[in-house]
Amino acid sequence: MFNSHSTSKNHLAPILVDNISLELNNRLLINGISCQINAKGISVIMGPNGAGKSLFMRCLHGLATPNSGQIFYAEKPLSPDIQKQQSMVFQSPTILRRTVLANMLFVARQRGQLNPKTSIEYLAQVQLEHLAQHPARLLSGGEKQRLALARALITRPTILFLDEATSNLDPTSTETIEKNLQLVDQQGTKIILVTHDIGQAKRLADDVLFLNRGILTEHGPARSFFKSPASAAAKSYLAGQLVL
Ligand SMILES: Nc1ncnc2c1ncn2[C@@H]1O[C@H](COP(=O)(O)OP(=O)(O)OP(=O)(O)O)[C@@H](O)[C@H]1O
Ligand SMILES: [Mg+2]
Repeated sequence: MFNSHSTSKNHLAPILVDNISLELNNRLLINGISCQINAKGISVIMGPNGAGKSLFMRCLHGLATPNSGQIFYAEKPLSPDIQKQQSMVFQSPTILRRTVLANMLFVARQRGQLNPKTSIEYLAQVQLEHLAQHPARLLSGGEKQRLALARALITRPTILFLDEATSNLDPTSTETIEKNLQLVDQQGTKIILVTHDIGQAKRLADDVLFLNRGILTEHGPARSFFKSPASAAAKSYLAGQLVL
């Protein structure tokens, strides 16, 4: 069932999650998750608060280490080298105490992008060009989040992880971020995102992974997930009910 979103017909090596579990403080928080995620497209992780979505994403990106099981990218086990090619945007981004442009340049230089014009282009892409010389700490929440996305994009990651990157943002900032995600998706960047915004998931998702109590209860194409979710937990989540 977990492999219903099969990648066997395409030539791109997928992300393979092989029976990972994570226990912290004697609580089994990720419980034997196995799945195969396409190497391209937008995969959306959904589920109630505390389901383990952020922890699962941290495992995928190598920020948390499962107690058992393994994660493979294109058949290679997750390693610091693979992690370096990926980027993650968090719900509350860390913004450096310098200008917006300097925030970009700091990341860009680490990736050998020495031309400030490139940083300006990425800022324009998230509609922040006019604030390039502005102290980044003074940006609004939505502007900070757009800066965080531009900083992630300038690294040209193979995989872009976003953990509730648009929660509490106004529709314009959300739309700017979604348009950028659609653009980089078309350019071939794999996107894995966590959201509670069902509308956003419907707009963006190619496939949906639904987590409940640390278990991957279903994984499949977005269209069938939203039309007829297989698990009772996902059904009530989509119906806006409490999942206890
Ligand atoms: N470092 C940690 N140590 C111990 N428990 C943790 C740790 N991080 C998360 N947890 C617990 O693991 C469970 C899953 O947390 P996680 O943050 O992954 O949930 P989530 O699905 O992202 O929820 P939300 O929708 O609220 O962001 C929670 O019960 C949380 O308290
Ligand atoms: Mg979370």
